[in-house]
Amino acid sequence: MKNTRAYISAIGMYVPEKRVTNDDMAHLIDTSDEWIRERTGICERRVVADGECNSDLSVKAIENCLSNSGVKAEEIDLLIVPTVTPDMVFPSTACLVQEKLGAKNAWGFDLSGACSGFLYGLATGAQFIQTGTYKKVVVVGTDVMTSIIDPQDRTTCVLFGDGAGAVLLEPTEDEGIGFLDFLLRADGSGGKFLHMPAGGSKIPASHETVDKRMHYVHQDGRTVFKFAVKYMTEVTSEILQRNGRVSADLTLFVPHQANLRIIKSTANRLRLREDQLAVNIERYANTTAATIPISLCEAFRKGRLKKGDLVALASFGAGFTWGSVLLRWGI
Ligand code: ACO
Repeated sequence: MKNTRAYISAIGMYVPEKRVTNDDMAHLIDTSDEWIRERTGICERRVVADGECNSDLSVKAIENCLSNSGVKAEEIDLLIVPTVTPDMVFPSTACLVQEKLGAKNAWGFDLSGACSGFLYGLATGAQFIQTGTYKKVVVVGTDVMTSIIDPQDRTTCVLFGDGAGAVLLEPTEDEGIGFLDFLLRADGSGGKFLHMPAGGSKIPASHETVDKRMHYVHQDGRTVFKFAVKYMTEVTSEILQRNGRVSADLTLFVPHQANLRIIKSTANRLRLREDQLAVNIERYANTTAATIPISLCEAFRKGRLKKGDLVALASFGAGFTWGSVLLRWGI
């Protein structure tokens, strides 16, 4: 009997029209284009228009994805929405997307894995395909980080942007394509280094929490930086090793885009060449759950991937959460 594997059969993305450059930010806070470029690699980011929300970005990314596949919204079985910036606490953004998209035969849920959310979502969706339960699963990594960053905090507000990236997962019996392995991790002791303190059941929203700016991202940047490099390197080395591969076998390495220095340090430790790296942080900054699908989508559209190519994805984010996914490209 042949094994059924899940593979990415289509990919799409959406970023808002509005560009905010580092110089634009320097008009609002005490920063400079030079500081942001040197410390992060970021040149500009995309920001939602007034009234534009997470489900709008998700729907546009999924429509873009499906337009490349011939699959209709009604054919989707399951919709997974990794995000930390849902439209609202409930109903889930997945339900709001299902309605706006017309995916009337799908059920779905939001998945909270921060910057690792997309990889957690891929692993979850792939299980439903591999067991034969479903034939069409959509995973859309989306975040509107500008809704939770403090515009007055220069140590965080320059780092993030808004965007969405979507993939369609389908079954295949072709052994030359599809997901080979998932390696996912979490360590809750890292929670205090990167979090949004209020607005949940622990510290519900009040005048006091708003006055104390507790509904924004708070982070210890240096600690996050250190663990991001260490854990993305470790998890990628381990997944390659346990699949009998080395980094030179990779056509493409797609790391979470949080900081160009994190990406370069990780790539150096993995002994990757520059032509193996997917980097677009200069244009979009950190879009949390969306960085990996957007980077993968752009790499594919630039002709950097062909059927059968070996690809590793790697993430690190709040939680701490981190992980790696190894796959053979299937489109
Ligand atoms: N403009 C100008 N100066 C700034 C800015 C800014 N935007 N931000 C900080 N500074 C200043 C600091 O105040 C500090 O000044 P001081 O020495 O007078 O106190 C100085 O620059 C150096 O600050 P550091 O924090 O030491 O700078 P560092 O080189 O560590 O860079 C950064 C900070 C970019 C945040 C880095 O630590 C980083 O990228 N960390 C990882 C953050 C991250 O990626 N988070 C998200 C990942 S997980 C997820 O995506 C959810």
